[in-house]
Amino acid sequence: MLRILLVFSLLISTCFFSQNKLNLIPYPQNLKINKGASVIPEKILVREAKNDSLQFEVKIFNTFLKTDATHFLVSNHGVPKYSFVELEKVNSSEIKDDGYFLEINDKKILIKYSSKKGKFYAFQTLIQLINQFSDKKEIPNLKINDSPKFAWRGMHLDVCRHFFTVEEVKQYIDYLAIYKLNTFHWHLTDDQGWRIEIKKYPKLTQIGSKRKESMIGAYVDDTYDGKPYGPYFYTQEQIKEVVKYAQDRHITVVPEIEMPGHALAALSAYPQLACTKGPFEVATKWGVFDDVFCPKDETFTFLENVLDEVIALFPSQYIHIGGDECPKTRWKECAHCQELIKKHNLKDEHGLQSYFIQRIEKYVNLKGRKIIGWDEILEGGLAPNAAVMSWTGIKGGIEAAKTNHFAVMTPGAYCYFDHYQGDPQTEPNAFGGFTPLDKVYSYNPIPAELNAEQSKFILGVQANLWTEYILDFKQVQYMIFPRLFALSEVGWGTSNPEKYKEFENRVVQHFKILDKMNINYAKSIYNISGKVIPNNTGVSYELSTSQNPNGIKYTIDGSEPKSNSATYQNAIPVSKAMTIKSAYFENGELKSAISSQNFTTSKTTGKKIILEHQPSENYSFGGAFTLVDAIIGNVKQLGKTWLGFQGKDVVATIDLGEKTNFSEVYFNTLDNKGSWIHLAKSATVSISNDGKNFKTIKETGKEDILSTKGKIILKVGNQNAQFIKIKIENAGIIPAGNPGADSKAWLFVDEIGAQ
Ligand code: ACM
Ligand code: ZN
Repeated sequence: MLRILLVFSLLISTCFFSQNKLNLIPYPQNLKINKGASVIPEKILVREAKNDSLQFEVKIFNTFLKTDATHFLVSNHGVPKYSFVELEKVNSSEIKDDGYFLEINDKKILIKYSSKKGKFYAFQTLIQLINQFSDKKEIPNLKINDSPKFAWRGMHLDVCRHFFTVEEVKQYIDYLAIYKLNTFHWHLTDDQGWRIEIKKYPKLTQIGSKRKESMIGAYVDDTYDGKPYGPYFYTQEQIKEVVKYAQDRHITVVPEIEMPGHALAALSAYPQLACTKGPFEVATKWGVFDDVFCPKDETFTFLENVLDEVIALFPSQYIHIGGDECPKTRWKECAHCQELIKKHNLKDEHGLQSYFIQRIEKYVNLKGRKIIGWDEILEGGLAPNAAVMSWTGIKGGIEAAKTNHFAVMTPGAYCYFDHYQGDPQTEPNAFGGFTPLDKVYSYNPIPAELNAEQSKFILGVQANLWTEYILDFKQVQYMIFPRLFALSEVGWGTSNPEKYKEFENRVVQHFKILDKMNINYAKSIYNISGKVIPNNTGVSYELSTSQNPNGIKYTIDGSEPKSNSATYQNAIPVSKAMTIKSAYFENGELKSAISSQNFTTSKTTGKKIILEHQPSENYSFGGAFTLVDAIIGNVKQLGKTWLGFQGKDVVATIDLGEKTNFSEVYFNTLDNKGSWIHLAKSATVSISNDGKNFKTIKETGKEDILSTKGKIILKVGNQNAQFIKIKIENAGIIPAGNPGADSKAWLFVDEIGAQ
């Protein structure tokens, strides 16, 4: 019961909020708005339940609302001006451990809960409500009955590719807490750095926590900054501090110690744990490396000792042991590894991976914990009690659930927050991929293939933030917001892709909270999308937005669009080389990034084009039209503006519509052997006036193509013809000594022009 109320300041007011949806994220499972509203007092007294200190909720409440000067929460240890919140602890049969009941009525705010976790979530909801209605100074009467659908609602952070300080990690944990996520997956070891102090093996951090330099720019550029990085690691004291900080916010920290792959930082410190002698260096490049832990006794002793210290620091039920991307190159050539395969009657190196994981699992189980690992721990048979983190897709999760193993779903296409969240041309450099907000929001962690019983093995959902291209914490914020909002609602189980627009409206309201907290977030949802379409004379550029279409302003003279620039109405004709810049404005305010698209026209622009062989499905972008759309392929965006052909030639016939003069034919191509993309072997141009009988007018060999990188220009003399046919010959089988040797080479081509 509340103590005597000093001043009762709750009033009934008009129903101003009935049209106003509540801006809660994640949206509660059950919410009923009642008649009336209550004034939010200047100071709010929280009456504690018996023997249940509220100090922490009070602190976090005030912290999150710190810039909202009018509202404070004080516990009844403080000097209250108004009484307001009543807390009631109930049995867990009435309210689930992580659930809560929140009622706002004319007299008070009532929170019911059965555990501290539920109480914490109730306060998070209350903070969001007060925040939303603080301008109006009154809050609608309502009842909320709420609890999460999934037990694992996780965010991962890679601190190896780039390191983040204890203070930054704590902020990251705050973000999880505000949006009711409950698991922080801390990726602590990898090829590019070992970031956790292990007392028994000091060289792990003395040597393994720094690297000579770091890869910068797009992966294809293969360039480095030349700057030593590190030493950067967390001491055990710091780790304890973070774990406690997270615990106070009802977040479990799951540490990840990578094995058997992604081990170069460890091997640089202790090369005797590899199959070959070394020496090894902490990686400066991103990717996957052949040198991995060798499954010898010495390695297992080392890993067990490391795990002893890790387990002592982290109270989590699960310990993440990595398991992903472990090439078998060294194991195939290692006498010890081969002997082990024979001795244990294993099928092959994949069986050895399974042996490795199972041996570690036994050890972790002995310590009273369980292992979780990436998909690849399924290779060669899953360890008995292991949980799978399904990242390459959802197959791993399905396989785990069907064999009664728990799984956390984190498929790359929906849950990798290192992907672009808008058109790469308007976004900071990212790893690649395209995972915009609506895509994350559309994700359902329960695979359709699973029946109700199997679905119980889906523990939940997680998003991952790999930090190869995330150099500082501002960029961390940018990559997770607003996508974390979508993840939060997917994990809570109240997302509804059919109501995406409604969700997006709430997201925009939450931008105000992010602004208050000085968080850098992506405004990509406002960005303008562009699409080239053919018209009678060439091509036009169509602009679109998911917002109000009247907000699109554009220029065609290269100047920055302003609120008084032309308002977009119809597709813009592209009749010559030009740059179209566009942006989204609301009430005169620039909301989006500025989109900029260059066009290079030629006599083939927008003309009819037929391909003899179709491009590979993953690199088919806009089909054959891509080659004559007046947009030159960008080296940094293989998924866009290029067509990719594996093992096939490009044979394109372009109908210019009428007899046309030209003296050169050109095309663009890529040379990126690391990604199996090779230059063409030859190019042949022929012409025709009936589209049937062609005459060859130019033939070049490999030398001609090698001598000109990127844009290949073929001088053909003065010609006059209606049809141009060009054959660009694929390099064929990748020669020995190259990545992907003996596989079919990729040929990437864009924009076939003539002038
Ligand atoms: C992963 O992205 N290699 C788990
Ligand atoms: Zn070996």
